[in-house]
Amino acid sequence: MELSNIINGAYLASAILFFFGFKRLSSPATARSGNTMAALGMLIAVVVTLFNEDILGYEIIIAGIIVGSLIGIALARYIKMTAMPQMVAIFNGLGGGASTTVAAAEFLRLRSPSGDLAIDASVTILVSVFIGTITFAGSMIAFGKLQELVTSKAVVYPLRHPINAAIFLASLAIIGVIVATTANIPLFIVLIGLAFVLGILLVVPIGGADMPVVIALLNSYSGLAASAAGFAVNNTILIIAGALVGASGLILTSIMCRAMNRSIFNVMFGGFGATAEVTSATAGGGGTRSVRSATADDAAIALAYARTVIFVPGYGLAVAQAQHAVRELADLLMSRGVNVKYAIHPVAGRMPGHMNVLLAEANVPYDQLYDLDQINPEFEHSDVAVVVGANDVTNPAARDAADSPIYGMPILNVDKARSVIFIKRSLSPGFAGIDNELFYGEKTMMYFADAKKALSELTSAVKEV
Ligand code: TAP
Repeated sequence: MELSNIINGAYLASAILFFFGFKRLSSPATARSGNTMAALGMLIAVVVTLFNEDILGYEIIIAGIIVGSLIGIALARYIKMTAMPQMVAIFNGLGGGASTTVAAAEFLRLRSPSGDLAIDASVTILVSVFIGTITFAGSMIAFGKLQELVTSKAVVYPLRHPINAAIFLASLAIIGVIVATTANIPLFIVLIGLAFVLGILLVVPIGGADMPVVIALLNSYSGLAASAAGFAVNNTILIIAGALVGASGLILTSIMCRAMNRSIFNVMFGGFGATAEVTSATAGGGGTRSVRSATADDAAIALAYARTVIFVPGYGLAVAQAQHAVRELADLLMSRGVNVKYAIHPVAGRMPGHMNVLLAEANVPYDQLYDLDQINPEFEHSDVAVVVGANDVTNPAARDAADSPIYGMPILNVDKARSVIFIKRSLSPGFAGIDNELFYGEKTMMYFADAKKALSELTSAVKEV
């Protein structure tokens, strides 16, 4: 059998592993095996490509694999769960940068001494370089915002849309000139510079609250850049893998936008977060209003005598790493005959699937996790809703106040439960920076404490009831 057939067969096997791996990622129950399948597909693709292409000496490739693996292992071990969005931003940026590098190398390799380059090669190379560089620069800004190295506020400046449009059109013109004439190196460098500036300018006006959506979109861009690079270097599996990343990033972006009731246009160009003011009670906005604050004993009595309890986890659960503590309390309540459910909002936390991942880590059974649509009708029949470090995703203003910045975002109808226990450290707002009417509701008990500490105290107190 010819080597090319073996290689194409191996690429086909990789592609099949990617497809089925992705499919399994759609449920927490099968996600781990899906991840392993996709990783196996990637391993096959990499090994086969190394046999196929005689690009570099094996010493350099092995050294690269060792250095890359060590960095990857260190990042996976030491990065906190709450810093995962920043890490994904870096990964996307590096993916875009890699596509630019591969395409640029191909540009120099294929260019004849007189500067000629076949049209099909130049188009794919230039598209890859353009999108890859935008992805790299945009992802670095997204990382900087999430890591608070640069302001996480939306930086809105005059004429930003015309400026971006002008840079985009100038880049298209350069691509046209290079394709139509010669593979001119100075023009190529100008194109990279313009794409770099465009990547920065596109992300700078977007507020920190929207960064996870931007990251999903940049993830999609990195896939498109990789796919174009695959055409440039004539590598089937790179084309397939890039297209899969491009499509899945777009799907994720649209799911997140729907969960926040925003359009992708509004996220990218709306400047959300530029004017959002902190209006919490602690920040002065509602300073004169009173809340009912509860002790562990008060809350434990409500829980111990409840028939149905719904836990509503949010970003604070992740910060406090309270996933094991919530499960412990839930188990105790179930052993006393209480019906326990978890309400999962699609954008609770700071990244897609954040709550599912945390609760899976604590081995919370999947059949106790309920999506927004499934759980919302259940709140009015529940005795207690326990909000653990969630805020925006429970804010009734999203449903009732047309002037609220989060108006229209679907929320968990926690206010419909017979009573609400709110676990958080203060009356500070959540990510959207707005006060939550629910704190002041008659049915609400505010339990001011770190989520992990509060849940452990509650568990001990319930045992005493
Ligand atoms: P948030 O509204 O951000 O509220 C989190 C709350 O957790 C804060 O009010 C904070 O109050 C509390 N908290 C922080 N550390 C805590 C700790 N150690 N113990 C107890 N509580 C703690 O969270 P959410 O309800 O999960 O909503 C997520 C927000 O992020 C939404 O606005 C959403 O649109 C946005 N967002 C999410 C995503 C994804 S994909 N998840 C994407 C884009 C935007 P204290 O400081 O008083 O404790």
